Amino acid sequence: MKTIIFILLLISALNATDMRGLIFNGNCTTCHFETKTVSAPSMKIVKENYLRAFPIKKDFVENMSKWVVKPKKETSIMLDSIDKHGLMPELGFEFSTLQEISSYIYDTDFTIKKNLSPKKSLSTQ
Ligand code: HEC
Repeated sequence: MKTIIFILLLISALNATDMRGLIFNGNCTTCHFETKTVSAPSMKIVKENYLRAFPIKKDFVENMSKWVVKPKKETSIMLDSIDKHGLMPELGFEFSTLQEISSYIYDTDFTIKKNLSPKKSLSTQ
C-alpha cells in the first residue's frame, strides 16, 4: 500500500517526459551509454538502426517494445551487435513500460551534450 502511494506521488510530482526519461536512465543506460559503445551498442546507434527500419514513431515504438520484451536473434535487426556483445538479456518489463521507454528514445537526441559542468554555476570574478 505504501509503495502504491509512493508511486502515485512520484508520478504526480514528475511530468510525463521526466518519468519516461527516469525509467530509461535507470534501466537501459547501465548497458547502453548514450553515445559510446562499450558492453552494448550505444543508444545513438540502436536508435539509428531502428529509425532506418521503422521511420514512423508508432512502428518504432511497437517494434522496439516487442523486441525488448523478448530479445531473440531471429527478430534482431542488429545481428552484428549480437555477434559482438552477445544477445541482450530479457529484463522483465511490462510491455506498456517499454512503450514509454521506446517513445522516449524516439523523441530524444542522444547526440546533444547536456552541459552539466559544475564550473558553469561558479562565479569567476
Ligand atoms: C544487461 C545489459 C543490457 C541492458 C540493461 C539493456 N540492454 Fe539493450 N542490448 C544489450 C546488448 C548487449 C545488445 C546488443 C545485442 C543484441 O542486439 O541483442 C542490446 C541491444 C538492444 C537493442 C537492439 C535490438 C536488436 O534488433 O538487436 C535494443 C532496441 C535495445 N537493446 C533496447 C534496450 C532498452 C530499451 C533497454 C532498457 C529497457 C535495454 N536495451 C537494456 C544489453 C542491454
